[in-house]
Amino acid sequence: MKITKAVIPAAGLGTRVLPASKAVPKEMLNIVDKPAIQYLVEEAAAAGITDILIITNRGKEVIENHFDYSFELEAGLRGNPAKKEIYDEVHAVADLANIYYVRQKETNGLAHALLKAEAFAAGEPFAVLYGDDIIIGEDPAAAQLIRAYEKYGKCTVGVNECPREEIHKYCSLDVTPLEDRVMTVHRIIEKPTDDEIMSLFAILGRNVLSPEIFDYIRATPPNPKSGEVYLTDAFNTMAAEGKLTAVNFTGKRYDMGDKFGIMEANCEVAINHPQIGEKFKAYLKELVKTF
Ligand code: UTP
Repeated sequence: MKITKAVIPAAGLGTRVLPASKAVPKEMLNIVDKPAIQYLVEEAAAAGITDILIITNRGKEVIENHFDYSFELEAGLRGNPAKKEIYDEVHAVADLANIYYVRQKETNGLAHALLKAEAFAAGEPFAVLYGDDIIIGEDPAAAQLIRAYEKYGKCTVGVNECPREEIHKYCSLDVTPLEDRVMTVHRIIEKPTDDEIMSLFAILGRNVLSPEIFDYIRATPPNPKSGEVYLTDAFNTMAAEGKLTAVNFTGKRYDMGDKFGIMEANCEVAINHPQIGEKFKAYLKELVKTF
């Protein structure tokens, strides 16, 4: 079955990037000239996705406005031949995909957020693009996972190797290779201690899931410390049953939920930007001489 649906969970609190995320959702924080979430919708569309569910919460109405036509703004631009290019670009944002919204209502974690996507999935597999993980590369990360899902028929998680000193913030996977960049996952340990590190592969930013994920989430007990159900725990049960594949995706990942990640994304996108790239590079070269 061709995968045409994607879910973007964007209902987190974004506490790590406060106060920037106080009134502006972190998914709407800028990367040069587009909000982060537009990169996700563009990636999904480039991977063949036609329908996207964005999981939001209070205060995220600006996301809906961004993916809608903006009548007054566009009327002004349309009447000005010098602004045709910008008009085309602004107008096209609303046509990237059919976008639907549902509110999570309570911020109970990513697994809880995903349960809100069950009616939208309607028994079909779907891609998940975490709202704060931007991946930029020639081959859309979502497309790489979709190909693995279509080939192996199992829930597929996107992974990358993390630096050893950072893996304790993520999770560590026990894997065996299936083919270049594709692996079977046997076990996952969330936030591993040094002794528990099985590999430096951690789940980051993208999944392709079959609808059975909803039953796995419901069957997963909440973490006793946080009271939240961890998606990683549901994945771990799947892995133990031989039902989980991982793709070591290509492309550079930027964590927009982290102050440093936001700066990396802005710097690197600016360097390659067709309008400002050369000027920004020259500026950076001068700037580094000063420290
Ligand atoms: P994070 O854990 O990175 O988001 O979730 P957060 O909760 O906003 O982070 P901090 O720690 O407060 O800074 C990964 C993705 O899952 C979404 C987030 O919006 C983000 O895109 N999410 C998280 C939800 O949709 N609902 C939740 O309850 C939690």
